Amino acid sequence: MSSLARRAILSLAGNRLVTGLMTRHGLKLGASRFVAGEALQDAVEVARRLNEQGLAVTLDLLGEGVTSRDGARAMAEGCAAILEVIRREGLDANLSVKPTQLGLSIGADVAMENLAQLQDLAGRFGNFIRLDMESSDLTDATLSLVRRLYARAPNVGTVIQAYLYRSPGDLRELAELGMNVRLVKGAYLEPPSVAYSRKADTDEAFRRLIAQHLSAGCYTAVATHDEAIIAFTREFVAQQAIPRSQFEFQMLYGIRPELQRELAGEGYRTRVYVPFGTHWYPYFVRRLAERPANVWFVLANLMKP
Ligand code: FDA
Repeated sequence: MSSLARRAILSLAGNRLVTGLMTRHGLKLGASRFVAGEALQDAVEVARRLNEQGLAVTLDLLGEGVTSRDGARAMAEGCAAILEVIRREGLDANLSVKPTQLGLSIGADVAMENLAQLQDLAGRFGNFIRLDMESSDLTDATLSLVRRLYARAPNVGTVIQAYLYRSPGDLRELAELGMNVRLVKGAYLEPPSVAYSRKADTDEAFRRLIAQHLSAGCYTAVATHDEAIIAFTREFVAQQAIPRSQFEFQMLYGIRPELQRELAGEGYRTRVYVPFGTHWYPYFVRRLAERPANVWFVLANLMKP
């Protein structure tokens, strides 16, 4: 993917006219390919179907950049409802959250209070919460939150983005704690002062991080649809005799579903990230930016009567 096209989509997406047009036309514009639906029940049905295919799930209530305490509280309640339904329905699923969804933009203590309550609830249910990683201005604050939570109980983890120059050092510190980390390429618009802009550099950095965290003996979630990175991981674990219980593959709902089933069929632990909710727009835009060809799919849907 050209980084120019990616930048153009991410910048255009902030335009008010575009935002208005997209949200007015709703999920039928194509977002439903990547989003399970607007209601929790929609996500439960998708999760059940994926579980039946041998795939684990992580559920995500869409929402980010929440700027009021009440808004963050409401999101936390929505996340608690997810943990409850996972337990009630016996789903093979955990929870992913965005720190700014739970109040990080208002203050670290607001996010911490909401997260700690969710962590306790997850702990009671024997479940796990992962803090997604957002843009680079939030990396320090997110790492600090996850460390505070991890000191309370080890049922939390986070995400490290391969495109950031700082990531090898951050990952090393998390490995010292023994933390379960999801490794990704990175989905935000970042300046060249903090992140690689060439895909080949990010891919190389990604491989190094996978080897680093696995070699440290830590649980590693390799989150990608990139077959070359998946092949690298398979070879690395075979060479190093790393047990399958120490890693999993993760992919997004709606992207490469056949590859998801294939890996699960071969006995690799594979988890699908299933987002749902009404605040689907920023998530959808990041999926378009990763693959500008997806924009044609949106335009084709717009033309439909
Ligand atoms: P790459 O972009 O090179 O794509 C490889 C191939 O996958 C493409 O050739 C295409 O076939 C397919 N593909 C990829 N994206 C597609 C799309 N949108 N539509 C259709 N096909 C597509 N990022 C972040 O910054 N913070 C986070 O917390 C997370 N969390 C997260 C969880 C999970 C489970 C996944 C899979 C990814 C994330 N990401 C993320 C997103 C990640 O940073 C990255 O943007 C995407 O995974 C796309 O990169 P790939 O590794 O798939 O490679």
